[in-house]
Amino acid sequence: MDLHDIRRQYQLDRLTAEKLLPQPWQQLQLWLEQAMAAKLSDDPTAMTLATADVTGRPSARIVLLKQLDQQGLVFYTNLGSRKAQEIKQNPQVCCHFSFLGLERQAVIYGRASKLSLREVSKYFMSRPRDSQLGAWASQQSKPIKSRQLLEQSFQQMKQKYSQGQIPLPDFWGGFRVEVDSAEFWQGGENRLHDRFFYQPSGPGVWQIERLQP
Ligand SMILES: Cc1cc2nc3c(=O)[nH]c(=O)nc-3n(C[C@H](O)[C@H](O)[C@H](O)COP(=O)(O)O)c2cc1C
Repeated sequence: MDLHDIRRQYQLDRLTAEKLLPQPWQQLQLWLEQAMAAKLSDDPTAMTLATADVTGRPSARIVLLKQLDQQGLVFYTNLGSRKAQEIKQNPQVCCHFSFLGLERQAVIYGRASKLSLREVSKYFMSRPRDSQLGAWASQQSKPIKSRQLLEQSFQQMKQKYSQGQIPLPDFWGGFRVEVDSAEFWQGGENRLHDRFFYQPSGPGVWQIERLQP
């Protein structure tokens, strides 16, 4: 397969300092809203979460953003998973959003901390019953011999919790990524992309600098 000639020009929009909102979470929210309105993807809230273990070895995967505000970015997962174990060792993470249909990407750097039981419980109870059972059935990131065993585990949970509310598994939770810095990228003609980097310059105040493409 020859990939050398796969390229395109980025001409859709220009990003200027004047267009940017003062807080990075506000800018991300705006771009998310625009991506949703443009119907670019069936998973508009998907973000690639990168973590690293204590030795610095990175890993990445997609998770769904479930809340975004001044406090940070929230996602939910299994606490025994690779990502959760890595966050335990090293809370520094990176969340990457691809809005390629708008020729944009956003990169959020921050520190992940576990959500309170109250927050996790509230969200878990709002999930469809089958998703709740799916959470119980899977020891995420651990090996399993077959698909059949996984489906058996799901059926067992379905029987076990056939009546009433399904309780929150103690191995399931969520994280909030508090934003340390962020970058917003808009593709430009001739590879002269617009890049703006946010970093704190005081409590609640962000300095915004243009970066070279
Ligand atoms: C569109 C999409 C959304 C996903 N959302 C989540 C999510 O919100 N939480 C989650 O734990 N895994 C989610 N996954 C699965 C993860 O990408 C990953 O396979 C899983 O969390 C195990 O990752 P780990 O072994 O690195 O911890 C999603 C995958 C895709 C493709």
